[in-house]
Amino acid sequence: MMEILIKNAEIVTMNKKEEIFYGDIHIVDNIIYNIGTNLEVPTVGKVINAKGKTVIPGFVQTHIHLCQTVFRGQGDDLELMDWLKKRIWPLEASHDEESIYYSALLGLGELIQSGTTTIVDMETVNHTEFAFKALAESGIRALSGKVMMDKGDEVPIPLQEETEKSIQQSVDLLEKWHNYDSGRIKYAFSPRFVVSCTEELLREVRSLSEYYNVMVHTHASENLGEIEIVQKDTGMRNIVYLDHLGLANPRLILAHCIWLDDEEKRIIRDRGVHVSHCPGSNLKLASGIAETPYMVQENISLSLGADGAPCNNNLDMFNEMRLAALIQKPIHGPTSMNARTVFRMATIGGAKAVGMENEIGSIEIGKKADLAILNLNNFHTYPSSEVDPISRIVYSATRADVETTIINGEIVMEKGILHTINKRIVLEEANNSIKRLLKRATIIK
Ligand code: GUN
Ligand code: FE
Repeated sequence: MMEILIKNAEIVTMNKKEEIFYGDIHIVDNIIYNIGTNLEVPTVGKVINAKGKTVIPGFVQTHIHLCQTVFRGQGDDLELMDWLKKRIWPLEASHDEESIYYSALLGLGELIQSGTTTIVDMETVNHTEFAFKALAESGIRALSGKVMMDKGDEVPIPLQEETEKSIQQSVDLLEKWHNYDSGRIKYAFSPRFVVSCTEELLREVRSLSEYYNVMVHTHASENLGEIEIVQKDTGMRNIVYLDHLGLANPRLILAHCIWLDDEEKRIIRDRGVHVSHCPGSNLKLASGIAETPYMVQENISLSLGADGAPCNNNLDMFNEMRLAALIQKPIHGPTSMNARTVFRMATIGGAKAVGMENEIGSIEIGKKADLAILNLNNFHTYPSSEVDPISRIVYSATRADVETTIINGEIVMEKGILHTINKRIVLEEANNSIKRLLKRATIIK
């Protein structure tokens, strides 16, 4: 039995009452066994003295592409369709098993170091087995799947899939990895976006997601050019089309949702579809600004993600929280997205998106032990007196303030040092990978 006792911390619970108090957290195996003040624990393996530190639920990022982490800096200053066709697709097409593995570990190192404990990840067409291997080794909680793309113009040959093969490979990966390590890792069907998928594929994904009860993770209505292609191909608005195929339901996570009309907003709300808001990516790809204050007002399930490294260029939830709040203020007023709303999206909101709100997303007895310990004792985060702790976390803190990350009861990062990932090797292999990929890829300048 593994036990950890975190002593004398400021605990930002994000429980139903959103309580914040000082006390101890007793973790037994992978579960938060007890929370209280001066907990008496006779035989504990590990005691963390967290006096003066702040414990938060680990962040849940609902839209990530680990396979793109080694492309960081290779896709700057482009709009979505150019970014995909000129840079991202050629690079994804060049991936090999090793580059997928190290790209994932590079991203996972960054995510864990910045306090993210759960991700929803979209891989590329090939070698996804090696991303799952990295996910398994890193200790992170994840939903992931191979991307599906059986349609589209200017798609490099290695990414062109036959419908049946795409589905078969997805199901094979699902059967191997879904619920791996007692459910720490789950499969999610990942059709890239409507532009890349035939109707036949999307219909099959809908029925398989129902049959296996797994999530579907895709991009939708991110870019005006994208929704124009969908309208031309299907005669429908993007979200209307997804609903028409039966995909609009609580098993669906849609990244972006910037360009929605009233009917599409209603569909998302009424069908319980989850929106993953990615403000960093939306700004960098010049995609637009999602109407998140409306989504909050209408109780739409809303969470946050950094998207891929080449459109952000970090995987850091502190950046995304800050942007999610700030970008709305000039448009909808200073109170439209406050710190608490954004912190909710980053934690329990993400947990709801993946259907795990009873297991993760808050610090409560019986939940999985997924949390981050912050050290906010620094110039940029002071004063600590007479200030809302959530304001400090959202508006002042940075990734460098994360001291320890615990996932599923395992200390995966302590005092900035990763226990599950070898930093030196991963940095070296990230360089080797991108050098190799750029030699193979046809990059259009
Ligand atoms: N739409 C289709 N594919 C992608 C992708 O890889 N990243 C983003 N941001 N949008 C997409
Ligand atoms: Fe994306």
